[in-house]
Parts: sequence; C-alpha cells; structure tokens
Amino acid sequence: MEAVVIDAGSKLLKAGFAAPDQDPALVMPTRMKRVVEDVDMADASAFEEFTVDPVARGFVKDWDAMEGLLHHVLYACLGWEIGEEGQVLFTEPLSTPKAVREQLVQMMFENFNVSGFYASEQAVLSLYAVGRISGCTVDIGHGKIDIAPVSEGAVHHIASKRFGIGGVDLTELLAQHLQRSNPLVNIDISEVEKLKERYACCAEDETAYEETQNSCKKETHTLPDGQVITIERERYIVGEALFQPSILGLEEYGIVEQLVRCISSVSSENHRQLFENVMLCGGTTSMSGFEERFQNEANLCCSSIRPSLVKPPEYMPENLPKNSAWMGGAILAKVVFPQNQHITKADYDEMGPAIVHKKCF
Ligand SMILES: Nc1ncnc2c1ncn2[C@@H]1O[C@H](COP(=O)(O)OP(=O)(O)OP(=O)(O)O)[C@@H](O)[C@H]1O
Ligand SMILES: [Mg+2]
Repeated sequence: MEAVVIDAGSKLLKAGFAAPDQDPALVMPTRMKRVVEDVDMADASAFEEFTVDPVARGFVKDWDAMEGLLHHVLYACLGWEIGEEGQVLFTEPLSTPKAVREQLVQMMFENFNVSGFYASEQAVLSLYAVGRISGCTVDIGHGKIDIAPVSEGAVHHIASKRFGIGGVDLTELLAQHLQRSNPLVNIDISEVEKLKERYACCAEDETAYEETQNSCKKETHTLPDGQVITIERERYIVGEALFQPSILGLEEYGIVEQLVRCISSVSSENHRQLFENVMLCGGTTSMSGFEERFQNEANLCCSSIRPSLVKPPEYMPENLPKNSAWMGGAILAKVVFPQNQHITKADYDEMGPAIVHKKCF
C-alpha cells in the first residue's frame, strides 16, 4: 500500500496516497462541527453545534478534534482498514514546537497503529514540488505567512520568518470594509471568505492602488439569502494589505521587503541561488494580480540581485501553488519509505516520541 501524505492547514486539509505530479485526492476544510448532545433529549433544541478548528495558525491546537478528523480522513475517505494501517507522511510548518512534533508521532503510533511515520517541512516540500532543493518559499496560507530560505534541502532557520497573519485576517479586513460600505447588509463571515476568493485582487503598484480611490469598477453581488451588496475598492484593499501591512494595523515591512531581508541575512554565497528561485505558494498567493505585483515590486528592489519567481513546470497541475507542500510530500514519500529512512514501529517502541527529532529533520 502507498503511503498517505497529509498537509493539515489552518483552513484546508490536503490528503491522499503519494502520487507525484498529481493533486491530492482529498482537499477538505479542517474546521469541524462538534455536536453537543444535551441530557434532555425531549427538546429539539437539545442539539447544539459548535465549530472547532483543530489547526490554528499552522499548528495543531485541539488534539481530540485532530484525532477525529484524521480518523475520518484515513479510514472513511482513504479506505484504511483497522489493523492494516499503512505509512504516513506529515508536512510541518516552520518552527513547529518539539512538543507538537512528539505528540503527533505518538498519536499516529499509539492511536492509529501506523506502520511507518515521517514528517518534513512545508518549505522544503514546496520546493521539491517544482524540482528544486534550494530556493526561498513565501507561503501565504490561511493562518500564517512563512518565509523560508532553503539550501540543499535544509531550511536556514535563523534567517526564516513567520508572521501570524494570513488569509483569515484578510477575510476579517474585507468583512470590516464591506460592513462599512454596505451598512444595511448582514454578511456571514464564511460568505465574506467566498467573496474574498472571488473578488480580491492586487493593484499593479502603489500608484495604481492610490488611483482606485478615484475610480474603481463596481461589482454587484447577490448573496445566497438574496441580499445584494456592492464591492468596489474593498477588493484592492485586501491585496494591498500584503504589501502595506499598516492597512492591517501592523508596523511591518511589506512582503517583498520581508523576503529581501530574510535572504540577506543568509551568508552571501547563497544569495544568488535564493533570490533567483523564489517560490510563491499557499492559497492566498493565488489572489488575482498578486504574482504580477510581487514581481513588479521585486524589480524595484535595491538589492544587487533582484528576486525572480520560479515558474512551475508545465506538466504539473494548475493548483500547484495551493497544494505544493502536499505534492512535495508525495515526492518525498516515494523516497523515504522504500529506502527505510522513516520511523518504524520498532524505532518508536524503542525510543519513544523523541525519535522524531532524530529521524525527521
Ligand atoms: N483567489 C484567492 N484570493 C485570495 N485568497 C484566496 C484565494 N484562494 C484561496 N485563498 C485563501 O487561501 C487560504 C487557504 O490557503 P492554504 O490552503 O494555503 O492555507 P492552509 O494551508 O489551510 O493554512 P496554513 O498553511 O496557513 O496553516 C484561505 O484563507 C483562502 O481564503
Ligand atoms: Mg498550508
């Protein structure tokens, strides 16, 4: 049986049997509904629904919910049989705390009885997906932005940077602005997220963004409940926040300046390779106009080498930037398990959860 690869993000879980150059078989929301049963069943309102996010800002925070989610994914969706569990490879965000790594490996061996385990960093895997072992990833997901320079398959941890902002904050920002421009309309946050994915965009530069103040195409959108809203400049504000974080109330440099600073803090013999292999990944980078704006700002950089973006190979699926960590995981799974570089049940029984720091790096 092929190993299963899992990239559990703050919004989307990508999972499937390792098959290089393909999209994951399963992409589903990580958010779960917990139904709480009241003792008094007589009343129809005895069922209450709560939503639970097992993963927040990239890290597992609710282990019971995570176990339930993985159970559903592995047995119900991917067809594992109890007693015949296979091998599994997890993607890990930057700077995953040691305790989180240990808890995951422990849960997989003790509660799922997996026959083998491996974990690898999302930045490294995203580069594998485009056939590289060196480069710098800018991963803008739902809960976080990770900028990670990677040389020869190893992350420069000291030079890497994690920001605790992501798509979820852009959704909030859009909600605030839409509420202001459509004061009579009550929009559910999940609808705002859909609007963001459909309409949000980036102006080509700061001047073009300023001009959206004077003129901007007006879109009219009917919500599922029949309410009608208009979207104008809000769509540009969302994209601009990545380049001007002050829009989000943050005193930070924009995304391109952050990238340049990260690479510049690595020793200089690596600069050319890192600057010339910048990879944009994570769902938020698929925002309309983002890549063009990023490249435009990169062209204006005063560093001696200008950042240039990796073009994904043509044979790869269109969704590559959204699923690159999973896809790289599928490539790696085809190497680590056949070559016995993974953690086996015997390794785990002998060494316990701390084995993960020895075998997976
Ligand atoms: N076209 C789009 N424009 C803007 N945002 C988008 C677009 N498509 C997807 N997104 C956003 O991308 C995010 C999901 O991306 P991704 O799957 O990379 O995140 P994740 O892996 O679940 O989270 P993380 O890696 O941060 O833990 C969501 O916030 C989603 O709204
Ligand atoms: Mg992710």
